[in-house]
Amino acid sequence: MKHIRVKDEQEMNTRAAQILIAQVLLKEDAVLGLATGGTPEGVYAKMAEAYKNGSVSFEKVRTVNLDEYVGLNGDHPQSYRYYMEDNLFSKVDIEKENTHLPNGTATDLMKECADYDALVKSLGGVDMQLLGIGNNGHIGFNEPGDAFVMGTNVVTLSQNTIDANARYFDDMSKVPKKALTLGIRGIMSAKKVLLIAGASKRDIIEKAFYGPVTPSVPASILQLHPDAIIISC
Ligand code: GLP
Repeated sequence: MKHIRVKDEQEMNTRAAQILIAQVLLKEDAVLGLATGGTPEGVYAKMAEAYKNGSVSFEKVRTVNLDEYVGLNGDHPQSYRYYMEDNLFSKVDIEKENTHLPNGTATDLMKECADYDALVKSLGGVDMQLLGIGNNGHIGFNEPGDAFVMGTNVVTLSQNTIDANARYFDDMSKVPKKALTLGIRGIMSAKKVLLIAGASKRDIIEKAFYGPVTPSVPASILQLHPDAIIISC
């Protein structure tokens, strides 16, 4: 694990975007694992800027996102599909059929989870997984618990996460209580992992990467990843 401490979010965004772009330049059909939340927004803006000025093309890139809310379809402004279209996909030359997120409105959610793991496998696995981190140490939507959950799964979100997500919804009752998330095996199987965290995550970064590896801080498992970069400020 390599931890790069940077002076501010601007530098974090620049460094993270450079790493993701380098991955695409090295492998034009790279499989990028993508994340949502406030933290990656600036990284996606830098990637879109690099595409606009001709430094990189996403024409052959494939993407698999970490998670999606149960019950929200892609037209819902708070769905993660909508977020991805808005922040990145509509701003670069990626082919829509090469972009994947779990379907939060699938009728059979367990089947959707199994299908999502099979999809990631069929793409040959993730070359580089971008991650943020929740205040409680969650990655994707893998919440703290007694054991690491391995496969893609349906999660009941913790109150901490529901409270953190509430800022995006006009009414607390509309904040989804469940989500689909790639599991810990899916994340750990990525060839490279890049986790970014702003200044408000300093305490959890210390706990996750300088404390014990424990399912009560899911991100701590990344201490065992052979090629993980953490960029934080
Ligand atoms: C959500 C997402 C995570 C993200 C987290 C932190 O829970 N599922 O992937 O890392 O939010 O979000 P933020 O960057 O807004 O703090």
